[in-house]
Amino acid sequence: MSDEGFRVTFTPSGRRGNASPGATVLDAARQIGADIDSVCGGRGICGRCQVTVGSAPGMPASPDALSAPGPTEIDYKGKRPLATDHRLACAAIICDDVVIDVPPDSQVHRQVVRKRAEVVAIDVDPVVRLHYIEVAEPTLDDAGSDLGRILAALKGQWGLSGLTVDPALIAELQPVLRQSNWEVTVAVHTGTELTAIWPGFRDLALGVAYDVGSTTIAAHLCDLASGDVLASAGVMNPQIRFGEDLMSRVSFVMMNPGGERQLTAVVREAMDHLIGELVTEAGVTREDILEVTVVGNPIMHHLVLGIDPTPLGTAPFALAVDEAVTGTPSQIGLDVHPGGRLYLLPCIAGHVGADAAAAVLSEGPHRGDAVQLLVDVGTNAEIVLGSSAGLLAASSPTGPAFEGAQISAGQRAAPGAIERVRVDRESLEPRFKVIGSDLWSDEDGFAAAVEKTGITGICGSGIIEAIAELYLAGVISHDGVIRGDHLRIVADGRTSSYVLDADASILVTQPDVRAIQLAKAALYAGVKLLMGHLGVDTVDEIRLAGAFGSHIDTKYAMVLGLIPDCDLARVSSAGNAAGTGSMMALLSRAARIEIERVATEIEKIETATEARFQELFVGAMAIPHATDRFPQLAGVVELPPRDTPPARAGGRTARRARAEGSAQ
Ligand code: FES
Repeated sequence: MSDEGFRVTFTPSGRRGNASPGATVLDAARQIGADIDSVCGGRGICGRCQVTVGSAPGMPASPDALSAPGPTEIDYKGKRPLATDHRLACAAIICDDVVIDVPPDSQVHRQVVRKRAEVVAIDVDPVVRLHYIEVAEPTLDDAGSDLGRILAALKGQWGLSGLTVDPALIAELQPVLRQSNWEVTVAVHTGTELTAIWPGFRDLALGVAYDVGSTTIAAHLCDLASGDVLASAGVMNPQIRFGEDLMSRVSFVMMNPGGERQLTAVVREAMDHLIGELVTEAGVTREDILEVTVVGNPIMHHLVLGIDPTPLGTAPFALAVDEAVTGTPSQIGLDVHPGGRLYLLPCIAGHVGADAAAAVLSEGPHRGDAVQLLVDVGTNAEIVLGSSAGLLAASSPTGPAFEGAQISAGQRAAPGAIERVRVDRESLEPRFKVIGSDLWSDEDGFAAAVEKTGITGICGSGIIEAIAELYLAGVISHDGVIRGDHLRIVADGRTSSYVLDADASILVTQPDVRAIQLAKAALYAGVKLLMGHLGVDTVDEIRLAGAFGSHIDTKYAMVLGLIPDCDLARVSSAGNAAGTGSMMALLSRAARIEIERVATEIEKIETATEARFQELFVGAMAIPHATDRFPQLAGVVELPPRDTPPARAGGRTARRARAEGSAQ
């Protein structure tokens, strides 16, 4: 021991300093600024402060560097069992120079890792923290207010000052304090506001992260301290009965004065219903939920808040609010703890919403040097491009073709829908996969596997693959014309269609190809517009977000020219990036601060008023593009020469083609 006490090093933070004689590990951590969790304030109740004795070069682990376990640890019976070799930092006294290892579960600012196609790490920086306090009872000599006593206890026992108090909480203070013998747990929101109080000790604080999409609403129930996801649930957005896509819902509001109230009511009801499902699944209660975050496209964002979305339906697409919105869950009809708080991420622009902001938070194009293209494909494609040097954003009117609408046999991605398609380059015969079965249509057992669902149509990823494969097989020309001489290519008025299934009920028609060309040209033109503004000819990586981005095969997206040429190894699905971003904002104050800053720094480009957009659009109608080359794609996929003659399957008889077709 030096004159200044024992030398203590905390890992993994690397913080070090001196501990005065008699100090506990928790005391030392607080003095030095090392991160150790605690809800009970060092009373040996919560078990959150568990640490182990670690080692460092020249300093082997020595259990004797801490006092032997005393009654607090020996009698400890908290909800979190004290693991072997673990010590309660609030009880163990430092007796020698020591290295203290703080395991992730005992860190306030821990990193949790979400598994998906690629791994996303979320740094937990709790928005709500619970603090157990012992409040001084009033006496004749000291008859200050209950609130004053609580604030004094928070200052004395937790070093918290300058707190405001939710007025709704004040009526609860008296009964809770008296019923609990002046020992209570309080919730402090963002380190500034007292929002809840419970008698005695408590260490459960939960939150719900929503991603409100126009088709589905997803919700995740998370532990605000650990970042663990306790339950997830999803439901179709009931607004669908007012309009399949966003614009038809806006039209409904335009044609039915007050219609936004109906749309708001049904979406809020569905969101609240999801809470019921989540708490049942996790075995907790609605009252355990203290925090809610919401992301959604601008129209969903406005409707959740009860704002008329009609200004978003016409130029100049002005948002009612683009900053992050805070409030209470009850203001949007959610039944959770009355002290709960609500946070909606900021919107970026009139057509680039809080869902895009959440995707930016999740994928972090602003954090790296690589030029990243982040695309969320829906009725409108939301496009973000850039790097740490700056981000640009735009939306492009792709329409609903990618979601299976406007396609002759199109449907949503649901059991029975064709989702994968291959076309033999020689025979021009197709094989496909249907959602709900792992078998290809030419594999044994396929008919039995799809018997229950049948083959009901083709979804967005299926039509993309069908058209891309038909292009690679020479059935569809560079200009998008179906042509050729084959039993599967049938005359359809003045154009041709390609028959995909045995019953000839699912065709790829010429209007289908046109609809996809229009949608992909809108997307590509939007991307090129941003690339032009950013001054780049290529992008380093591409992330496809949303449900469509998760299902689409990135190679076919590039073959068709939805996205620019790029190393395919760096083109990936971003999964539910908006949902991940919502969860990050739920679990981290720092994430909120980050996205609020980044959202204001993103330069918005309005495709509708850009003169070049039309020119870029026309060039992007061809497959993959009229003039742009795809050298990286050509390295892995054999692209047909642009003047490929019409496809012809040699030497096949009609009987054989039919027989093969009906065998599927
Ligand atoms: Fe709660 Fe140690 S701080 S048990």
